[in-house]
Amino acid sequence: MEIASILAYVCFFLSSLLSYPFLKKKNRIPKQRAKLPPGSMGWPYVGETLQLYTQDPNVFFATKQKRHGEVFKSHILGCPCVMLASPEGARFVLVTHAHLFKPTYPKSKEKMIGPSALFFHQGDYHSLLRKLVQSSLSPDKIRKLIPSMESVAISALESWSSGHIISTYHEMKKFSFDVGILSIFGHLDSNHREMLSDNYHIVDKGYNSFPTKIPGTAYHKALLARKRLNQILSEIICERKEKRLLEKDFLGHLLNFKNEKGEILTEDQIADNIIGVLFAAQDTTASVLTWILKYLHDDQKLLEAVKAEQMEIYEANGRGKKPLTWAQTRNMPLTYRVILESLRMASIISFTFREAVVDVEYNGYLIPKGWKVLPMFRNIHHNPEFFPDPHIFDPSRFEVAPKPNTFMPFGNGVHACPGNEIAKLEILILIHHIVTKFRWEVVGSQNGIQYGPFPVPQQGLPARFWR
Ligand code: HEM
Repeated sequence: MEIASILAYVCFFLSSLLSYPFLKKKNRIPKQRAKLPPGSMGWPYVGETLQLYTQDPNVFFATKQKRHGEVFKSHILGCPCVMLASPEGARFVLVTHAHLFKPTYPKSKEKMIGPSALFFHQGDYHSLLRKLVQSSLSPDKIRKLIPSMESVAISALESWSSGHIISTYHEMKKFSFDVGILSIFGHLDSNHREMLSDNYHIVDKGYNSFPTKIPGTAYHKALLARKRLNQILSEIICERKEKRLLEKDFLGHLLNFKNEKGEILTEDQIADNIIGVLFAAQDTTASVLTWILKYLHDDQKLLEAVKAEQMEIYEANGRGKKPLTWAQTRNMPLTYRVILESLRMASIISFTFREAVVDVEYNGYLIPKGWKVLPMFRNIHHNPEFFPDPHIFDPSRFEVAPKPNTFMPFGNGVHACPGNEIAKLEILILIHHIVTKFRWEVVGSQNGIQYGPFPVPQQGLPARFWR
């Protein structure tokens, strides 16, 4: 009996000793104890990339979840990955254990946007930049932009209303770019605005093309345009400094920054973060706006109800003679629910990427160091347990707040979108002006999705607008 208890003690002591290094490193676990999640890794090298690209990515991931459950593995785009399709899994990666995962982007994309842009970073540099972005996009700052945003919306709408067919997505991109410029520079002279727009357009075209330095290719042209953007930004910064303008916009915040050692940001750091914010702001907002117009067009009853809500505000403002107030933009309940439901339905950011910096255990499964981890927003937004009849567009579901961590169109945790308030504000403003003054008709095939890389209606929703 005694010998048995001594042996048990020795075994316990030895096993504690052996597991000590793992216990010390929280969540680092001996590989042999946890197993990899279920799922298939596909073919050597290519993995399941071909399957992903030859079918609708949403169907690809939804089918995998059905087969394997909420944690599964795959091998796509040259990387072994673990997908987490539950609210708890997404929260684990993005919030509670965010320190075990780092942001990860292909080097070619990092180079194009600028390696000092905040979303490539973690830790002190990231939180410093994030504070600057957040304070320049705080409700206090963006409420002052309402009149300028209205002018941008009205002039965009007027340019669409000559009766010719436009690509809604294409036009929405111009609108969200102009609002992005407004939030970064406040008022910017038209010469610099056009130069930024022309060169940014080339960068945008090359961003998703094959990365090569061969002259004449879209990627190479984009790299050259990215260099020119730096020169233009440098000119703008120089003028600002000469005029000693103490603006409180994003550029002003970047220029005025000094850390406790008195160090300021370099011009490259400033440029990369300006391009980074433009990049984060443009396609996202434009895709959501395009979906909203499609959903409203497909449900005329809902469109009439949104119109009634907006007409009341329009009349109160002397038929649009007075500008919208901040309070009015905060009191458009139906329109706001349409935005939330569109964000859920379209889930334009279907998932995000992180990389495990150590071996991590989640729910008994091993996520090996170096593997990519994908919190699957779209799968969560389309789970009938959280959103009954998920394929039906029903804004009334947002009359009740969704369960915690089940609705993450703007992400979660330290990298969650700092632009979510301005995005919603510009969408509300554009909808106000569209539905109170314009009608639109979708032209051609009305179904189908294309990816570029965010999902948008086929051909960017060709449509005709008139007063
Ligand atoms: C409807 C439009 C938008 C959607 C759906 C959206 C969504 C998101 C999501 C999901 C993330 C987190 C990505 C991740 O965790 O990997 C993010 C990050 C970010 N967004 Fe947005 N966004 C939108 C508009 C904007 C706008 C208008 C701005 C700026 C004016 C902006 C600036 C940013 C920035 C700077 C980040 C990186 C934050 C960081 O890494 O700390 N976004 N966005």
